[in-house]
Amino acid sequence: MYKVAFLPGDGIGQDLKEVVKLFRDKIEEKYGFSFELNELPIGGKAIDSFGDPLPPDTLKECKKSDAVFLIAVGGPKWDNNPPNLRPEAGLLKLRKSLNVFCNIRPIKLSKHLTHLSCLKCETVDKGLDIIILRELTEGLYFGEPRGIYTQPDGSKVAINTMSYSSTTIEKFAKIGFDLAMSRKKSLTSVDKANVLENSRLWREVVENLSKSYPEVKLDHLYVDNAALQMIYNPNQFDVIITENLFGDILSDEAAALVGSLGLLPSASIGDNKPFLYEPVHGSAPSIAGKNMANPIATIFSIALMLRLSFERNDIAFDLENAVEKTLEMGIGTADLKMKNTIGTREFANEVLKNL
Ligand code: NAD
Ligand code: IPM
Ligand code: MN
Repeated sequence: MYKVAFLPGDGIGQDLKEVVKLFRDKIEEKYGFSFELNELPIGGKAIDSFGDPLPPDTLKECKKSDAVFLIAVGGPKWDNNPPNLRPEAGLLKLRKSLNVFCNIRPIKLSKHLTHLSCLKCETVDKGLDIIILRELTEGLYFGEPRGIYTQPDGSKVAINTMSYSSTTIEKFAKIGFDLAMSRKKSLTSVDKANVLENSRLWREVVENLSKSYPEVKLDHLYVDNAALQMIYNPNQFDVIITENLFGDILSDEAAALVGSLGLLPSASIGDNKPFLYEPVHGSAPSIAGKNMANPIATIFSIALMLRLSFERNDIAFDLENAVEKTLEMGIGTADLKMKNTIGTREFANEVLKNL
């Protein structure tokens, strides 16, 4: 039986925890396919209990598992902690330790949610199906030196370092080219090569690699223009590759195109398993504990895990269809502004009925 390290974390992570268990049970009952959920502490809850956002035992168990499933970490309670004692530090250390350098964020607009999109009908009526690949283990998030330093005159200076190795860029970009080959053979690389050395190296590596993929139409866009084009005409994109921070920002922007951050799943992959699965959203403190969180990002993340770690594309596909069928019924959590608003648990149960 597959073993999943299960890290519900903070805020709405706790509301969505039960949803994951319900789906696990239903999948076992309906398909005879089971995976074990080994619940482990991470984030703020782990700081409170163990004084560490990623306790050594959590990391050890994750590394021994077939897949890692995390919901969300963070919250106001820990916002003033020192950097290494913040919930987010646990998540970043986990990503780095698992070396999951390619974060896959599919952005797809449901035809039942076009009313939610921030874009005009003419644009979204054509549908939307983009995949953002975000590099996840280098860049400003991890570069050294970093810190806040006091100058001799008593003023302070803060330093973060953006650093990229050509090895990582190449391995990451290769996943983008391969994905483009399996879709529309169109790839957009987003950088800031007019200003940053990091981006110039990025562009050079991507250009070189493109010679091995003559069928893929490659475009380069500066990130500011990419943010603009995403709103003007998102359908010009199919697969996007970009560095860590740009990908973080562009994927939240893309969530507004499909209606809610509560819809976007992600999978983070590397050279070796286990891979890491997590919704794109955070711990949403203002709705935590209120049975209001949209469970779709979590359900879609389970689908990605079934597809990429357990080779069960059939179940993944059924899950995605069951969500679509449920939306067709005109029901959804509050963020979806449907005819009928229902809670997290109730919505999850409707999806289960449609499975
Ligand atoms: P957030 O993603 O938690 O929330 C942004 C907005 O989206 C809020 O309005 C929230 O209510 C809404 N939202 C998010 N998920 C939703 C869902 N499932 N259903 C309905 N609405 C949803 O981002 P934030 O407010 O900037 O950050 C809150 C905390 O979460 C911070 O501590 C941050 O560091 C952390 N965070 C964690 C992760 C992660 O664990 N992967 C990701 C992003 C943010
Ligand atoms: C995300 C989040 C994280 C990130 C934070 C919580 C560290 O915003 O997964 O998108 O910036 O990567
Ligand atoms: Mn983010």
